[in-house]
Amino acid sequence: MTTVPSSALGLDVVPVAGYIGAEITGVDLRENLEDAVIADIRRALHEYKVVFFRDQEIGHAEQIAFARRFGKVTPAHPHEESPPEGFPEILPIDSRRYEKNLGRKRTSYDHSWHTDVTALVNPPAASILRSDILPPYGGDTTWTNLVTAYENLPKELRELADKIDIKHQFQTRAVEGSQRSRKVAEANLVAYHPAVRVHPVTGERALFVSPGFTRGAREIRGFSPEQSERILKLLWSEATRVEYTVRFRWAVGSVAFWDNRATAHLAIGDAGHLDHDRVLYRVTLEGDVPKGVDGRESELVSGQPFYGS
Ligand code: SIN
Repeated sequence: MTTVPSSALGLDVVPVAGYIGAEITGVDLRENLEDAVIADIRRALHEYKVVFFRDQEIGHAEQIAFARRFGKVTPAHPHEESPPEGFPEILPIDSRRYEKNLGRKRTSYDHSWHTDVTALVNPPAASILRSDILPPYGGDTTWTNLVTAYENLPKELRELADKIDIKHQFQTRAVEGSQRSRKVAEANLVAYHPAVRVHPVTGERALFVSPGFTRGAREIRGFSPEQSERILKLLWSEATRVEYTVRFRWAVGSVAFWDNRATAHLAIGDAGHLDHDRVLYRVTLEGDVPKGVDGRESELVSGQPFYGS
């Protein structure tokens, strides 16, 4: 069988920042894409860590079908109770919900740097986010390249990071004492992950420090909370240096696809006060249990592994 290079099929990959991010043009995500196109998107994802598509007219079903070409799709979220009817894989990121459930206006569930659900022992390998309703301005998302962050650390700090394990735990933003906060606490997710994980496909090492999930516990195994916090602050600031980042301006129909094994991201919290809705939909791909540079695996403390189908 002759394989057609995907460039011949119209796909183009254009980098958009110095260390991370590329825009992919010439693909219509509604279509059943050729294997060669999927392979090129996967290659671009591994090279650029986050890839962007514009002007995609897809709904939940097409988003899930596209995701399935890259791996098993998980349920929306370990703590999600009301995904859109008929689409248990879809996590709505919906400012209208946060106002109702969290008691305050915000445009995403979290406005701190994090990698998705790293409180799980097998955090999602990748996430695909599609925008639907957007504020007229504000509400951008930023990603950082954790491989670059690791590679640019001083050697001595890299050697320390290679050896340590950090506690990640889920923290709800639900109103204290509410039914949701009680439910989340009962089924809390906690795991220790190596601070440096080796990417199972590229072999690259990434600084895996997910501030949104490690800030609460502030625990590096073997260090006191004060020592842990000082080391974590240093690693968080290295992981999120502005030069390692790319900032994406959403438009209706934009899609971002990122590798959670090599990035962290931040939903910029600059639009909650604008009194305009922001609605996006996310799907995640089942992830592996991270491995450190010496092959040691992450450790489950509380909760269950999160599998897809
Ligand atoms: C996410 O963290 O998955 C959502 C990011 C966003 O709301 O921009």
